[in-house]
Amino acid sequence: MRAITQNTVGGSEVLRIGEQPAPQPKAGEVLIRVKAAGVNPVDAAVRGGFYPLLGEPPFVLGWDVSGTVEAVGTGANGFAVGDEVFGMPRFPAAASAYADLTVAPAAELAHKPNGLDHVEAGALPLAGLTAWQGLVTAGHIKAGDRVLVQAAAGGVGHLAVQIAKAKGAHVIATASPSKVDFVRSLGADEVIDYTKDDFVEKAGMVDLVFEALGGDHPEKSLKVLKQGGTLVVLLGVTEKAAAEAAGRGIRIERISVRPDRAGLEELAKLIEAGKLKVHVAKRFPLAEAAAAHDFLASKPAGKVVLTV
Ligand SMILES: NC(=O)c1ccc[n+]([C@@H]2O[C@H](COP(=O)([O-])OP(=O)(O)OC[C@H]3O[C@@H](n4cnc5c(N)ncnc54)[C@H](OP(=O)(O)O)[C@@H]3O)[C@@H](O)[C@H]2O)c1
Repeated sequence: MRAITQNTVGGSEVLRIGEQPAPQPKAGEVLIRVKAAGVNPVDAAVRGGFYPLLGEPPFVLGWDVSGTVEAVGTGANGFAVGDEVFGMPRFPAAASAYADLTVAPAAELAHKPNGLDHVEAGALPLAGLTAWQGLVTAGHIKAGDRVLVQAAAGGVGHLAVQIAKAKGAHVIATASPSKVDFVRSLGADEVIDYTKDDFVEKAGMVDLVFEALGGDHPEKSLKVLKQGGTLVVLLGVTEKAAAEAAGRGIRIERISVRPDRAGLEELAKLIEAGKLKVHVAKRFPLAEAAAAHDFLASKPAGKVVLTV
């Protein structure tokens, strides 16, 4: 089978297409014929050696996958040959989805929802589960909450805006000027152009902040959180911010996304109800994984996907 491999960490040029033996499903696993594999910032960080989740190369990147079940291992309940599945298996261990075939634990997959093609389904799992686990599982979002979504135009953010709206929240979002209309089209009630306005002055007080930017943003976010509010962070917080939050009764939830079939099924329900749409900025053939990584670095609105 074909797979994108790398023998060293580095720029996108280290990604090469090559031939590898096809994997075989073990007990509890299914073999998936990959139709689409989403590209995420973590893929680029691992490729470049900045976040060595997979140890030393060679390795095959890719966690997001959508495809068709080709074979079923013993005890891999719930799936049959020919089923269309999607998921983010094994994260943070290797899932090797940038390939013609991959094997994944059945327990970490879900049936692809109707109304979502493989490209959209391949774009959804990692970003969608991050948004779901942040807002719903950890953030306990509820109807009527005022929610600030930072980096709302990104892969995670554009799904977070829609999930927060589906839960009945009033959504305030931040984006750069060329993406303000896009974020408004997702249903955000208020969009702050962060190049012109400071969200601390514009957002008003909120119950929940979904923070995907890091740096000094978590600390600044505390200024707009009500007493007893919740700060969901994807990239960590400083000790100073954690201490300030504790003093004001603000709960901090640090998210490290994990495989979650129940979460995938909740995302599928939202898709089928027409409350969640995946915006694919651009798709690239598998062999052009390097170009896909370069394109993702240009911060497009929504998601980037490899088609297989
Ligand atoms: N902890 C976890 O489990 C987890 C899971 C998934 C992702 N992450 C991390 O979360 C981050 C976002 O992921 P992603 O997939 O959404 O990345 P992405 O698709 O590259 O999107 C990042 C977005 O940030 C926006 N942005 C940049 N500076 C901003 C600012 N000052 N204010 C508001 N928006 C700003 C950019 O759009 P503009 O043009 O509007 O600036 C861009 O759309 C990444 O660092 C990723 O590694 C963590």
